[in-house]
Amino acid sequence: MAQALTGLVGWRGMVGSVLMDRMAAEGDFAHIEPVFFSTSNAGGALPAAIAPFGKNETKLLDAHDLEALKRCEIIITAQGGDYTTEVFPKLRAAGWKGHWIDAASTLRMKDDAVIILDPVNLPVIKNALAKGGRNWIGGNCTVSCMLMGVGALYKAGLVEWMSTMTYQAASGGGAQHMRELLTQYGTLNAEVRALLDDPKSAILEIDRQVIARQRAMSADETANFGVPLGGSLIPWIDKDLGNGVSREEWKGMAETNKILGQGEGFGTAATPVDGFCVRVGAMRCHSQALTFKLKKDVSVADVEALIAADNAWVKVVPNTREATLQDLTPVAVTGAMTIPVGRIRKLAMGPEYLGAFTIGDQLLWGAAEPLRRMLRILLDA
Ligand code: HSE
Repeated sequence: MAQALTGLVGWRGMVGSVLMDRMAAEGDFAHIEPVFFSTSNAGGALPAAIAPFGKNETKLLDAHDLEALKRCEIIITAQGGDYTTEVFPKLRAAGWKGHWIDAASTLRMKDDAVIILDPVNLPVIKNALAKGGRNWIGGNCTVSCMLMGVGALYKAGLVEWMSTMTYQAASGGGAQHMRELLTQYGTLNAEVRALLDDPKSAILEIDRQVIARQRAMSADETANFGVPLGGSLIPWIDKDLGNGVSREEWKGMAETNKILGQGEGFGTAATPVDGFCVRVGAMRCHSQALTFKLKKDVSVADVEALIAADNAWVKVVPNTREATLQDLTPVAVTGAMTIPVGRIRKLAMGPEYLGAFTIGDQLLWGAAEPLRRMLRILLDA
């Protein structure tokens, strides 16, 4: 499918911008005939950010124009779930048979959709492709980053169950959430700046003023997260499913199993995955503390070797304080394709209980990268 007419939707947003950067860095535009769609500026010239990638199509097309969309052999969208909900069914109903690659969660759990994370599930993707699959959906960022790190243990059939406790960055909510977090940090700093500047000031007085300001934050100051995140955390992400489980927590098990091609829909047993998902004041890296119950006692050295050999991006971080501080923080990982896995050790519960800590840039492996890699898989097919 070289030079496939490829429609790009949602290239302006945060995930879309990271996607454009990665596609440019990997030379993807050399292999496609790109068409850029817009929900707000149809007919306009390609903006500077994407103009260098345009070939024959130099104007933005209307992202709701079904006829224009139908011409595309492939459509990649990072426009969001509302767009998918509105446009995708109409496009298929109109007889479009092209490949739909989507960052939104809308279609993820549909039977005819594959959650794409090819370093982990290329066989699942290839199998679906051979059967005529056409809907390729990026996974939940937390799940994708986790499987890039420790997928080797699943592939080796070693995992009886896994518990994951997440520390998810503001970017998972979107660009506005990142701005809100930083604004809150600034507000809190401004509140106590004079006291901070005075080395003799009492820390408990600073603390009292900070908590007073946090509790006094207005609806505008917390419009995106609902409560202050700066200097705090929020142990609930996404919708309330009504059974004590958050939708983000539910995704952990549902998507992990679907990515691996097991569990419901595959006629095999699902691996239990559960834990708590927590929003923290990091910018764009999702971190996770993992507890595994392994099916057998495997040495830490063997676990490290398995993980390290799994893919080109995972990196085992030695379980020392120095290496952890150096390589296993959101600050260290932001903007990197690397997925570090560290703190690997046996837990006190017994030899089959393994702990690990992993971090991923949720805009890269968590969102943009699997989409552009799926494009290349289709182009090579
Ligand atoms: N649901 C994720 C989060 C984002 O809120 O962090 C993308 O999967």
